[in-house]
Amino acid sequence: MRSWAKFSLLASSFWPAQAYIWPSQWDGLEDAYTISFGFGAIGIADGVNPCSLSPGGGIAPGRESAAEWLRTAYHDMATHNSETGLGGLDASIGFETFRPENIGTAFNTTLGFFNELQTKQISMADILTLGVVLAIKNCGGPSIPYRPGRIDATEAGPAGVPQPQEPLETHIAEFALQGFNATEMIGLVACGHTLGGVHQIDFPLSVEGAITTDNPEGVVHFDDTFDVYDNHIATQYINDSSVDPLLVGFNTTTNSDARIFASDSNQTMLQFAQDPDFFISRCGDLLERMLNTVPSDVTLGDVFEPLTVKPFQLSLFFNSTGGLQLSGNIRIFGTSAAAAAANPADMPVQLIWMDRHGNTSPNYTTTALSFSFLEATSLWGSLQFFSVSTYLDPSAGISSFVVNWAYDSESALTTADNGGGGFPFQDVILFQQAGSCHGFVNQNSTVSAVIRNDMGAVSSPYLEYTYSSSQPGSLAFKQITFRTELVYAGNSVSPLYDAYTAVFVANDGFLSANESIVSFDLVAVVGGTTYESLNNPQLFTPCS
Ligand code: HEM
Ligand SMILES: *[C@@H]1O[C@H](CO)[C@@H](O)[C@H](O)[C@H]1NC(C)=O
Ligand SMILES: *[C@@H]1O[C@H](CO)[C@@H](O)[C@H](O)[C@H]1NC(C)=O
Ligand SMILES: *[C@@H]1O[C@H](CO)[C@@H](O)[C@H](O)[C@H]1NC(C)=O
Ligand SMILES: *[C@@H]1O[C@H](CO)[C@@H](O)[C@H](O)[C@H]1NC(C)=O
Ligand SMILES: *[C@@H]1O[C@H](CO)[C@@H](O)[C@H](O)[C@H]1NC(C)=O
Ligand SMILES: *[C@@H]1O[C@H](CO)[C@@H](O)[C@H](O)[C@H]1NC(C)=O
Ligand SMILES: *[C@@H]1O[C@H](CO)[C@@H](O)[C@H](O)[C@H]1NC(C)=O
Ligand SMILES: *[C@@H]1O[C@H](CO)[C@@H](O)[C@H](O)[C@H]1NC(C)=O
Ligand SMILES: *[C@@H]1O[C@H](CO)[C@@H](O)[C@H](O)[C@H]1NC(C)=O
Repeated sequence: MRSWAKFSLLASSFWPAQAYIWPSQWDGLEDAYTISFGFGAIGIADGVNPCSLSPGGGIAPGRESAAEWLRTAYHDMATHNSETGLGGLDASIGFETFRPENIGTAFNTTLGFFNELQTKQISMADILTLGVVLAIKNCGGPSIPYRPGRIDATEAGPAGVPQPQEPLETHIAEFALQGFNATEMIGLVACGHTLGGVHQIDFPLSVEGAITTDNPEGVVHFDDTFDVYDNHIATQYINDSSVDPLLVGFNTTTNSDARIFASDSNQTMLQFAQDPDFFISRCGDLLERMLNTVPSDVTLGDVFEPLTVKPFQLSLFFNSTGGLQLSGNIRIFGTSAAAAAANPADMPVQLIWMDRHGNTSPNYTTTALSFSFLEATSLWGSLQFFSVSTYLDPSAGISSFVVNWAYDSESALTTADNGGGGFPFQDVILFQQAGSCHGFVNQNSTVSAVIRNDMGAVSSPYLEYTYSSSQPGSLAFKQITFRTELVYAGNSVSPLYDAYTAVFVANDGFLSANESIVSFDLVAVVGGTTYESLNNPQLFTPCS
């Protein structure tokens, strides 16, 4: 990740921003951003839907995951030092949960939710940030532009999260170091303290008498709509009906919201109270800056715009009767009225490919792809999936494809060509689900592959598998990558391909909470050219 960030810094100074081209290292995050609920979603939005949902799916009364994720992101970012460039959104919070400035179990609960979603290409800092963007949108808040590329810290950073008992001057200085002036500080605090509240079990010097059987942690909310991202934190302040424990709490020393909100003679809070749309747009801007505050040696990628047409889990493999099968899905996203009105069952969608020599043929086209029952929704627009299941002639093979599609059968077809060059797709090294299996703790796993044998010598074929591993001091996982040889294993089901296998021990998440294989890549040099089959999914079939 680090070396990529340096490359991107160099590249961006010479070339203008490029359109997103598939495949990309950000494909997993882009899917997680675009696919909110249903087929293909990884469950982030489900963790904050409804907005009031507690960690563990509602089993922790008085707690609100959306608020905890936002607070976690702020506390992670709050140790940024704009003078040294150190700190920022880098998941260092995982190593800092014992500090007095990070009171409560919310940080570890949040990291424990997101660590299962980490992969080789998805850092904790990126997935936490994405979680905040999705949570705020789903709670009725702004659409915050999302950029990928955050790199996880490997140790704790300096301290510096503001605490409620500190004086106003200290808060102003802390926010200045984070990169926010005194006016922006007022905004950012109000933009945070509109969700959730203060828990008596964690802040007994600020909340008293709130613990009951229904409210075991004694939460008192910041405003009357603690599960709606709205301006009530400001309207209630201005109309003197606030119950915010950091504003009207019994202990004036910890009433930091009172000192902060009044620090510009109420100008910011008056504007927020008078204009709900201004509150939403200002919070969108301030939170975007907060989430993009990263150590100065990290360069973020471009803002995600969901791809209109994108392959999803598309794979090429030999089936049990020896047919070369292309299977998976095509995702179509749009924000237009036509997209919203479309009936996926009536949408013509076809995949048209080029063979391995770059030739076209009337035969290289699928019948209309079926919508099947892959229902999915996006917080950002309309989303449909179409199933691909087609067979290729192995001697002709495939090198790329385009998708022809429309929102209804009357409209002219549009060709999605991935920015001009088509969607590249190689047929040289293929993962074979059949023959691959997942070993138990301290036992071997096996990955089967086939490699084309009519293209010259095959040299140094290997498998590189990456798993999430626990690390001391933080619930964020670190990624560990191992390389192992793909060993020639004789004929395959096709005379044009040879079989290869890799056998390796990787103790993973099915049987031990500590580690889990998340992906593996297959690589070979064939006839002098390197071919890769990247990001194959986790193995699910147990080895008998
Ligand atoms: C001077 C600055 C700040 C101080 C002193 C402060 C203090 C606090 C305190 C004491 C709590 C109660 C935590 C608990 O009981 O679980 C809290 C909650 C929260 N804070 Fe802040 N905060 C500040 C700024 C911010 C900012 C800038 C954000 C985000 C933009 C933010 C987001 C939140 C959220 C969402 C909660 C609710 C957490 C929950 O309900 O679990 N805070 N804050
Ligand atoms: C903070 O910056 C904004 C512009 O970014 C400016 O309008 C505002 O006056 C500044 N506030 C202070 C206290 O400097
Ligand atoms: C108010 O909070 C301060 C700082 O946390 C603490 O020292 C003080 O004892 C508290 N006062 C009361 C009345 O609880
Ligand atoms: C104060 O503002 C809140 C939130 O907008 C509103 O529900 C409440 O009715 C207002 N109270 C008064 C006294 O105006
Ligand atoms: C700011 O608003 C608060 C709450 O309505 C009020 O108590 C206070 O007097 C106001 N301060 C100024 C300087 O207007
Ligand atoms: C395998 O592929 C062939 C086409 O070559 C197809 O006719 C057959 O139905 C497929 N078998 C399975 C089990 O999908
Ligand atoms: C298309 O497929 C048919 C049946 O497999 C075959 O007879 C025909 O020659 C193919 N046409 C082209 C242009 O490859
Ligand atoms: C895993 O397989 C390798 C090579 O086939 C073998 O040498 C090794 O003993 C196996 N390890 C276990 C734990 O079964
Ligand atoms: C959070 O988890 C880490 C890693 O397991 C642990 O070291 C730390 O003590 C935990 N923090 C709290 C507050 O429980
Ligand atoms: C694996 O995690 C468990 C807690 O989930 C811990 O008790 C154990 O020590 C860990 N083992 C290793 C090898 O890290």
